[in-house]
Amino acid sequence: MRSDGVDTAHVLVIGSGGAGVRAAIEAAGYGETLLVSKTLAGKGGCTTMAEGGYNAVLREEDSCEIHFEDTLKGGAYLNDRDLVQTLVREAPERMADLLRWGAVFDVTDSCEVAQRPFGGQRFPRTCYAGDRTGHEMMATLIDRLDAAGARVENEVTIITLLQDGERVSGAIGLDKSGEMRIILADATVLATGGGTRIYDISTNSSSGTGDGYALAYKAGAELIDMEQVQFHPTGAVYPYDARGRLVTEAVRGEGGILKNSLGERFMGRYDPERMELSTRDVVSRAIATEILEGRGTEHGGVYLDVTHLERKQIETKLPVMLEQFLKFGVDIREEPMEVAPTAHHIMGGLRISPEGQTTVPGLYACGEVTGGVHGANRLGGNALADTQVFGKRAGEAAGRAQERRKEADQAVISAEENRISAFYDGDISPSTVVRSLRTAMWDGAGIFRTGPALEKTREIIIHLLMLRPRAASPANLAECCTVQNMLVTASLVVRGALLRKESRGAHVRQDIVQTWDMQHSPYGHTFLSRSREGIETEVQE
Ligand code: FUM
Repeated sequence: MRSDGVDTAHVLVIGSGGAGVRAAIEAAGYGETLLVSKTLAGKGGCTTMAEGGYNAVLREEDSCEIHFEDTLKGGAYLNDRDLVQTLVREAPERMADLLRWGAVFDVTDSCEVAQRPFGGQRFPRTCYAGDRTGHEMMATLIDRLDAAGARVENEVTIITLLQDGERVSGAIGLDKSGEMRIILADATVLATGGGTRIYDISTNSSSGTGDGYALAYKAGAELIDMEQVQFHPTGAVYPYDARGRLVTEAVRGEGGILKNSLGERFMGRYDPERMELSTRDVVSRAIATEILEGRGTEHGGVYLDVTHLERKQIETKLPVMLEQFLKFGVDIREEPMEVAPTAHHIMGGLRISPEGQTTVPGLYACGEVTGGVHGANRLGGNALADTQVFGKRAGEAAGRAQERRKEADQAVISAEENRISAFYDGDISPSTVVRSLRTAMWDGAGIFRTGPALEKTREIIIHLLMLRPRAASPANLAECCTVQNMLVTASLVVRGALLRKESRGAHVRQDIVQTWDMQHSPYGHTFLSRSREGIETEVQE
């Protein structure tokens, strides 16, 4: 900390999930690295909640080519191919890092890392630690972060990126008592994760509010494919407080089957070849269709059944699921679970190079806040691999950044002080705004979309953006900023959805008649920034 109260670092990493911590570990090898977390590093974010696994090519019978093709096909060919090549090539090396640092993954009888099948993949390449894979990874990464010597600031919410001209030169944050924190850095890595808390039903932890998309957009960065929101097929449907909680794809990977209220194994109607292990977009639409057509369960879901599996398999491979459902009063060894789709992951995000460089100098990004790797639909298990591959790359590129003179722009700081203090005179509670937003997004920008419904949601967001969230105390100031970020993220999703006049992957426009298949779409990425927006029509071959 400097005598003027300004904190400085060579690299500032914003976000403490798998990607942020991996970036900070790498950057720390190049110079002083500060990781800022709005929660407690390693405890918040989505990585720690990730259950099912990490995709990596580890067996001779598998290959990077097959993983590449599976990822492109699963992503409806909207993926950035260079990013996918990087992902599949480096996922095994980053898995080796985790193992070297002490992560305990399940192994086979011959002591090789065990792999299970996940949807849309022609080889069982998902490595796992029971159904608490993300938790195991985060515990390992946090230990390593400590050893790497990076500094960590917990419970500081970044509210704006500082810029020196166009170049990002650090950030302004608020600590939990509402005190402003100024941080200057030679390079900044954005690793803030996703934002599906903008939907009524979501798997994300409370920190999945899309802050990074909004911060970067305001700083002039370009985002791609923001309309591509993944609805995980299987979220819990009851009790009410557990709605949306992840029921891992590993349940289906281990042999779980889906049935409707008539007892039909309905996936045969939607993907007779891959059945329950079809891609998530297909399975989510299948479940939603069964429910909409009146074949849902009493709680508004469908059944996910593992009662035909050996009890031991359930107890050893799905212990978290077993325990979670026992708490809801359901013994999954004896009776089926009830599940329905839940907003899970935003495939779109900041446009990056394979080195994690965004379109704004000085700003790098990795993990879910970026776009391009997963195209229009992410394969389960590719997100954890993404955090490690691109976390390392972004941390390294940021670490290599040149040292610069660090000066804070007083005008920007004053403007932020004014924005923040105005929250005390706001006119609506942030939670009221969030409730309206979530309902509007679920109703108008969900699994099935139409132009008029998207327009209606856009109008609601515009109205909500004009309201001024009210802070009751300094401790609520960050919440007001978060709500504004959620609104910006939601508006990016809806604008992207209006730009993409086709059905592709997770994005379905019911009001558009389409004559092409995914592989021959005339469209590429949607793009949104403060200076331009549109959809690419020259598609990468
Ligand atoms: O279903 C799951 O375990 C989630 C995995 C993922 O999103 O990659």
